[in-house]
Amino acid sequence: MKTRILRVDGDNICFKKIERAADLLRNGGLVAFPTETVYGLGADAFNSHAVARIFEVKNRPRFDPVIVHINSLTDIEQLCLKIDERAKRLMKRFWPGPLTLILPKSSRVPDIVTAGLPNVAVRMPSHPVALELIKKAGIPIAAPSANPFGYLSPTTAEHVKEQIGEKVDLILDGGKCPIGVESTVIDLTEPEPSLLRSGGLPLEEIEEVIGTVKISHVNPERPRSPGQLPRHYSPRTPIRILKDKKFKIPAGKRVGFLAVSPLNKELPYEMVEVLSSQGDLREAAANFFSCLHRLDRAGLDIIFAEPVEEVGLGRAIMERLRRASTKNNEIKKGGRKNTET
Ligand code: TXA
Ligand code: MG
Repeated sequence: MKTRILRVDGDNICFKKIERAADLLRNGGLVAFPTETVYGLGADAFNSHAVARIFEVKNRPRFDPVIVHINSLTDIEQLCLKIDERAKRLMKRFWPGPLTLILPKSSRVPDIVTAGLPNVAVRMPSHPVALELIKKAGIPIAAPSANPFGYLSPTTAEHVKEQIGEKVDLILDGGKCPIGVESTVIDLTEPEPSLLRSGGLPLEEIEEVIGTVKISHVNPERPRSPGQLPRHYSPRTPIRILKDKKFKIPAGKRVGFLAVSPLNKELPYEMVEVLSSQGDLREAAANFFSCLHRLDRAGLDIIFAEPVEEVGLGRAIMERLRRASTKNNEIKKGGRKNTET
């Protein structure tokens, strides 16, 4: 099947094309669409069959639940049982935006969406194409990132096409995702809020609104959020985080380098990708997956990555680098070892 891609960005968003995508969704189809974080692979959240197709296309284990995307605050009542004060404050301040909240689910949400958990993940994206798509479809949209399970997330329509293009009904091309890393996930189902995934909204900003947020440490045997699996976001090429500047480039190997800012001297790398011209974390996050996609396509033996400071968006970047650099055999041995080189 030839992949259908419709370009919808530019000066004016093309509403007619979004209408076609919304029709597909209402009829049980799968549509990949841009959000401000990464591209999502969407289906009608109330249609279990359509959601089951997401799992097939992504090769995603059924124990990993998906986020439901809404367009307005009134949509949330059909999804969640209880919306407490903390949730209300966060929604008011950060929605639409890169924040996902875990809340007790209503009986209308099919079990396949939440992988049988009593809670549902909800988010209101800020990308105009995503918002218009949900509005036109008139239903909440269940959507994980539009990549094969465990692989690098897509931040362009081209990434989606390369990875799963033939298996989806339509890709809406809204250009490059401006934030570039997935939403921050906060669990509000317990008295103490906890961070399940660092992402596009810095933890510091969330804590300004609801106070201290517990950082949920991962038990690899039983992750609280299934997406906390130790190996995730991974390129096919092995990746190593550099601990300090003193390291040896292995002889005879084709080594790529993921640099935070431009290098001030020539180093014998086969290929260098720079996250930000100014060493700015916002720009670095926006370029993170694109740089890794390019390095992964270059036929390298290994990718070395420079660490960033773990503040603001740096936390999201480091979390993804650590998971990307976890080897499968380290998981089998019972947990992620220190993968920094
Ligand atoms: O930015 C994003 O969040 C993107 C865009 C498309 O919205 N979506 C995304 O979805 O990253 P996904 O499926 O790749 O990651 C969702 C994460 C996973 O770690 C999943 O385990 C967790 O959220 N999650 C979803 N529902 C959950 C639930 N009911 N309880 C706990 N964790 C949940
Ligand atoms: Mg994902």
